[in-house]
Amino acid sequence: MTLEAIRYRAGSLQILNQLLLPHQTVYDEIRSVQDAYEAIKSMKVRGAPAIAIVGCLSLAVELRAGAGGDDPVTFIRESLCQLTSARPTAVNMGRAARELMEFAENESMEKNSEQLRESVIAWIEDMLERDVNDNKKIGNYGAQHILSGVPRDSVTILTHCNTGSLATAGYGTALGVVRSLHGLGRLKRVYCTETRPYNQGSRLTAYEAVAERIPATLITDSMAALTMREMNITAVVVGADRVVANGDTANKVGTYQLAIAAKHHGIPFYVAAPSTSCDLSLESGRDIIIEVRPPEELTSINGVPIAAPGIEVWNPAFDVTPHQLITGGIITELGVFLPSELQAALTGRLTAL
Ligand code: MRU
Repeated sequence: MTLEAIRYRAGSLQILNQLLLPHQTVYDEIRSVQDAYEAIKSMKVRGAPAIAIVGCLSLAVELRAGAGGDDPVTFIRESLCQLTSARPTAVNMGRAARELMEFAENESMEKNSEQLRESVIAWIEDMLERDVNDNKKIGNYGAQHILSGVPRDSVTILTHCNTGSLATAGYGTALGVVRSLHGLGRLKRVYCTETRPYNQGSRLTAYEAVAERIPATLITDSMAALTMREMNITAVVVGADRVVANGDTANKVGTYQLAIAAKHHGIPFYVAAPSTSCDLSLESGRDIIIEVRPPEELTSINGVPIAAPGIEVWNPAFDVTPHQLITGGIITELGVFLPSELQAALTGRLTAL
């Protein structure tokens, strides 16, 4: 069974509403950039690559209906600006916006409005296939790298949040590595953290694992260190919302403590991320803006209060793992690199390990 988080046919876009998973499978129609903005902000769709793809596809839907009239470039610019503001930490949307804007401006020199719309739509539609292909490469590189440390054994992986088909155009990044290991018959088990407060692990990763019969065990976030000590974890593999020039990585809150615990237990810690999640314009993790989300995500579940009324809440959605703790490497579609090698790898000066 293939999970389809994003359904796109020319001119029509639907997303699997992730607020309702795992209990209901409902596809919501995205008819406009405003619809996509709201879906991203409310986390009906989430995961750094999926945010960018849904955002850009919503623009394609509007362009196909003739949006922007005689001045599509202004419409594209304003739409991308709105979409980029929905969730600030993941770089993918901002990066896609920059590249798409540059493309649109260049095209506008030679093309009329109709031709410009056509070529921008084609650029956007290509994102879906590119992302799945990149994820499969990440899966393969990551699996080979992890297995090279344990030539004969099956491996046990610990992962965090949801980085699978639901977070991307398909296959996934960190969960793509798990899928590849499973496909090779070398995955003993994956431990997935619940990932409070939004429960991407227990609702979404667990859902993907059950659907595909991947051997998986759910743990609470507070069980991670114990699991590392007791369950013979081969590697920790997580995704990324933004990897910056020195390799510091922003990812779902809780990633940082996993990296510290992995270091303590001598377990390799990997970040799996496409180059579209990398941002060489920022030098270190200190420069990353961390999204702070509403207190209700902590104080209630599905509208049911679970905290003492009146308590103050801090709810940062992400944390930054310093590059020194990324001991296994950064798994990209270009290969697996140490944080110190990332810049050279992404600028074409270094090839895969
Ligand atoms: O808040 P979310 O659910 O969008 O956070 C998702 C993550 O942190 C993922 O690990 C990251 O976006 C990579 S998804 C391939």
